This record gives sequence, C-alpha cells and structure tokens, in this order.
Amino acid sequence: MSPEPAARFTLPHPRGESVLWGGSGALAAAAGELREWVAGRRLFLLSTPRVRALHGDAPAPVRAAAAAVVELSAPDGEIAKEPAEAVRLWREMAAHGGRRDSRLLCLGGGSLTDLGGFVAGGFLRGIEVAHLPTTLLAQVDAAIGGKTGVDLPEGKNLVGLFHHPALVVADTAWLGTLPREALRCGLVEAIKMAALLAPELLARIERDLDRLLAGDATALGPVVAAAAGVKAAVVARDPEERGERALLNFGHTLGHALEAAAGFGALAHGDAVAWGIRFALDLARERGWAADLAPRLTALLDRLGVPPLPPLDGAAVLAALQRDKKATEAGVRWVLPERLGQGRWGIVLPPAGIAARLGPFLAAGAAPARGL
Ligand SMILES: NC(=O)c1ccc[n+]([C@@H]2O[C@H](COP(=O)([O-])OP(=O)(O)OC[C@H]3O[C@@H](n4cnc5c(N)ncnc54)[C@H](O)[C@@H]3O)[C@@H](O)[C@H]2O)c1
Ligand SMILES: [Zn+2]
Repeated sequence: MSPEPAARFTLPHPRGESVLWGGSGALAAAAGELREWVAGRRLFLLSTPRVRALHGDAPAPVRAAAAAVVELSAPDGEIAKEPAEAVRLWREMAAHGGRRDSRLLCLGGGSLTDLGGFVAGGFLRGIEVAHLPTTLLAQVDAAIGGKTGVDLPEGKNLVGLFHHPALVVADTAWLGTLPREALRCGLVEAIKMAALLAPELLARIERDLDRLLAGDATALGPVVAAAAGVKAAVVARDPEERGERALLNFGHTLGHALEAAAGFGALAHGDAVAWGIRFALDLARERGWAADLAPRLTALLDRLGVPPLPPLDGAAVLAALQRDKKATEAGVRWVLPERLGQGRWGIVLPPAGIAARLGPFLAAGAAPARGL
C-alpha cells in the first residue's frame, strides 16, 4: 500500500499563523518552507541526547540554509521542564549572539517542545520557534496550539505562556523507534479527539490499531495528519480555551487526578487519560448519553492494552480532583461525550456524587480480572 502524502494545514492564531505538516514524508515535503524560515539567520537547534542519537540527522536539510547553527541540549523526559533549564538555555543563546530574528528549532518529544516553546516565547520577548516533534503525543497534541510551559515543585505546567510555533513538521518516520507504551499513550490522545470531533478518524484507528501500536509509519501517517488537523481547527476557533478547546481535555479531569494520586511518573499520562475516558463514559451513561460511543470506545481501550490501575486511595484521588486547575467552588468541571462526534464541556458535578462512584471504579480498574 503506497503511503498517503503528508498533509499541510494552517492554524490562524491571534499573532499570525502556524504552518503544520503531518504524516509520512512530512519532513521532505516541508523542507523548502523550513529552509526559507531559517535562511540567512542564526539557528538554535535544541534536542535531547536520546533523540539526537536516534534522529539527529533529521534537521540536516535545514541546517545548510542557516547563517550559523548553535546546538543546544536539554535532558530527556519531563525533567527538561525545570525552570533552571530555561534559564540555562537563555544564557547560552545570549552568549552565542541570539537576536530577535534568530530561530529556535526543537527536535524531541512534548517535554522538549514545551520547554523550547517557553524558551523561544521568553527570549528577547519572543523569537520564532519551529518544532520537529518525535513522539506520537507531541505530533498529535503537545507541539500544536501554542501552550508552552515549565514545571514547579508545586505542580506541572504552573509557569507558561502562549507562544505559537511558526512551523510544526510531524514526520511519522521518527515514531518507529518509540516503545509500545509511548505509541499507546499517543494513541489515547488521538482517540480522545476522534471520539468527540472526528468520527472518521475513530473508525480508522479501530481498523488500523495493530499497525499503529507497532509504530508502522505508513499507518500512523494519516492518523497524525487527521489528529493534528482536528487539534488545529479547534485551537483556531478557540485559541485561549474560553470554550470548545476544553473538549481536548476529555478524559483529563480524572486522568490528571489519577496521575497526581499515583505520584507523578508512576502512571503514564496516556494510560491515566484512558482511565479518565472510561470514567467520563460512566458519567455520560448515567445521563443517558453516549449509547453509541461507549461500547466502541471501551472495546478500543481494551484492545490498546492499557495496564490496570495501581491501588489508589479514593480519598486521595478526590482530593487531587478538587485541586484541579479548572475546579470552581461548586465542583469540578467535566467533559462528557453526548454521542459520537459530540461532547459537552464545563459540566460541573458536585463532589459527593463523584465520591460515591470513585471507590468502585478504582477497585475495578485495579483488578486484573477486568482483562486490561
Ligand atoms: N503544550 C501542550 O499543549 C501539551 C499537550 C499535551 C502534553 N504536553 C506535555 O508533553 C509532555 C509529554 O511529552 P511526551 O509524551 O512526548 O514525552 P517526552 O517528551 O518526555 O518524551 C518521552 C521520552 O521519549 C524519548 N523520545 C522522544 N522521541 C523519541 C523517538 N522518536 N524514539 C524513541 N524515544 C524518543 C524522549 O527522549 C524521552 O525520554 C508533558 O510534559 C506534557 O505536559 C503538552
Ligand atoms: Zn493529554
């Protein structure tokens, strides 16, 4: 089967527009635009040791067009998002002659693109940034939409700013080196968007799931392109999350609380969101919603092989839910599916009702008998 060509989208935002390329062969297709973007300028190239070892040749076609190239490095994983990393990079950029027209190109996963976007947004009050996201999660979600940030000991993403990338080039050729867990977690983010915003994408994921989980670049191409297109369209309509962009948080209300209660790092983000989607489906079914969607999503999550939950204390999860950034005095806000392709956001549910459901849900999720 010949691969579908990479797709090109534009995402208009309050300060201009982002150009997004996604799919198999995206880098070759976007090389001309990338070269034009760096032509004659100082290029800061930010990556991590692991990604550079695996895919460090990816920016080669772009480097030659720059006036000068300065290599920057950040650690692999979430620890890249320490504020001290941003300060160190700002100082290196200043020491290496960074100017307002310098460019920052980020090659790595979502942690690196979050850090790189933040660094670019802050340096000299903002220089242009482009991302070459190398994880599925970053290709379908983190690198798109302009949210950037770093972590504090008090919580994840507590310091950040909106700074949209000029270009995002998501080539699925880079995903072949990802472990299965990372592919599974990225797919959960694609599924969350497909369920509420793109029914045809959900059908494609159902059809191709085995190849997607195996990191097959040809199968991943159209999924990355479609999911990136869905995210871009939602962000373009609601750049600062005053409404509909909240749909992208489907599964994340409980998901974030599960991550926090388990201790960060003990439960992969995508797996936590998968459990959050199951819980949101339960809440939706109570209202008589999602009758068409619930069986399909449940079957798909079963096939993904999401591991059982670790044993978690219901009171700790409830406390984490109430600390949610989006909680109000009346309760926590939920995104619930109404039917395939349609969701509702901002649904405030009182804690008592959630507390009653949570214990049995956590117990069932932790039991291997559930077959996950
Ligand atoms: N800004 C947003 O809108 C947004 C949205 C979702 C998530 N995020 C953020 O994204 C981050 C998670 O990103 P992530 O899941 O990409 O993880 P990550 O960036 O931490 O990467 C995980 C690991 O995968 C390695 N890796 C990267 N590419 C690889 C490849 N092609 N092959 C093999 N290994 C590779 C990395 O070196 C790292 O060790 C979180 O910090 C989260 O908050 C941001
Ligand atoms: Zn997520």
